[in-house]
Amino acid sequence: MRRIAVFGAGYVGLVTGACLAELGHRVAIRDVVPAKIDALARGEVPIYEPGLDELLARNRERLVYTLSVAEAMDGAEFVYVAVGTPPTYSGDADLSAVWTVVDELPEVDHRVVVVMKSTVPVGTGEKVRHRLDSRGMHDVGYVSNPEFTAEGTAVKDFMEPDRIVIGAFADEDGDAVAALHDGIDAPIVRADVASAEMTKLAANAALMTRISFINEIANVCEATGADVVKVAEGIGYDRRIGKSFLRAGVGYGGSCFPKDSLALKQLAANSGYHFLVLNAVIEVNELQKRRVLGKLVEQLGSLRGKRVALLGLAFKPNTDDTREAPAFVLAGRLISEGAEVVVWDPIATPDGLHGVEHAATVEDAARGADAVVLVTEWPQLADVDWKAVAGTMREAVFVDGRNMFEPAAMRAIGFRYDAIGRAAAPESA
Ligand SMILES: NC(=O)c1ccc[n+]([C@@H]2O[C@H](COP(=O)([O-])OP(=O)(O)OC[C@H]3O[C@@H](n4cnc5c(N)ncnc54)[C@H](O)[C@@H]3O)[C@@H](O)[C@H]2O)c1
Repeated sequence: MRRIAVFGAGYVGLVTGACLAELGHRVAIRDVVPAKIDALARGEVPIYEPGLDELLARNRERLVYTLSVAEAMDGAEFVYVAVGTPPTYSGDADLSAVWTVVDELPEVDHRVVVVMKSTVPVGTGEKVRHRLDSRGMHDVGYVSNPEFTAEGTAVKDFMEPDRIVIGAFADEDGDAVAALHDGIDAPIVRADVASAEMTKLAANAALMTRISFINEIANVCEATGADVVKVAEGIGYDRRIGKSFLRAGVGYGGSCFPKDSLALKQLAANSGYHFLVLNAVIEVNELQKRRVLGKLVEQLGSLRGKRVALLGLAFKPNTDDTREAPAFVLAGRLISEGAEVVVWDPIATPDGLHGVEHAATVEDAARGADAVVLVTEWPQLADVDWKAVAGTMREAVFVDGRNMFEPAAMRAIGFRYDAIGRAAAPESA
């Protein structure tokens, strides 16, 4: 049992803290937002992440929530940094919250290891090392231990990871962080700090590249009469390629991919390198979100005065996270085209999205609408009585932005159905 302080009670900090407590450690979670800490102390979980509430409740004895640095650091041997690193105007990662944590670390009389969970540019560890050394804190170690969990499956991803990456300046600090994970069965990749930092950025870039790649294949499928769902199935069986992240759709969003792609693009540019592939990946994703508008115009003509229901606000199912969600971009574009927008999501709220109606059910959202656009593939959408829904719409136009349904089946129940990259689907389905 080790004593750990986690700075940041967001998606990563809470999951990390809960899982480290589950592994038997004593964990103090510190945040700067009183409402979050108060809620956690009352037993409420301020975010939606499947399995997290049970895990926090089960390990209540080993968890403390606090606003105080001193209380979090009391006896702590490890300091996990899990604060946000949003983009600045230049696209570089904003590390101000990271620096606040580092600068607020008190001097202690035993060895402490700072463990960086936040996604940071390559070179950050080196800068933190200098900053600590300049304060005379030579006995504070530093380890980069990037986080690869995905929202919606984060608890499982933490407890059953594909790998654990540990980049340390001193081997004994890397060993100590590796030992915190005893009980987890996964390969451990030991690296230097810079390579561990780059591993996180490269992993995200690889996943985004697959998404933009299959989206471009989808767009060519539309133009040439092929069905991207069949194509993805056909290439996914190839062991050199694999099946994951080959689902064509309206593009990626979320709190990580968009900002991390910008951060890597900037990191490369700041080092004098123009990262061609990554620039294309970002641009394809921006265009992909907007293609839905073209599909709606094709079906409805001008969108002025048309009522469009957006199904799904979260950037993906099983999370309440709407940061950089495609639905928000689509809503903005539709409103500027003069459309009325009504949104539905089972968990996420349209906070910050102005000028939209918020419906409680899919049926309410679709009633009287000229089109529905499926933006997030929430599993509950599979159980909707779509035939009944089609009958309540002004124009039964359905744009399936995630290829969730079979085109022939949706057309058979009365929809003018369009999807992403499925030109050949009517005949082949
Ligand atoms: N969300 C994910 O699934 C995910 C996955 C992998 C990596 N990451 C990375 O992890 C980091 C955190 O992401 P997140 O989604 O958990 O962010 P988040 O915004 O949900 O949480 C960050 C938390 O840090 C708190 N905070 C800010 N300054 C603080 C300070 N000085 N002391 C203590 N707490 C402070 C904020 O109040 C907030 O609660 C980011 O760098 C992100 O890129 C996120």
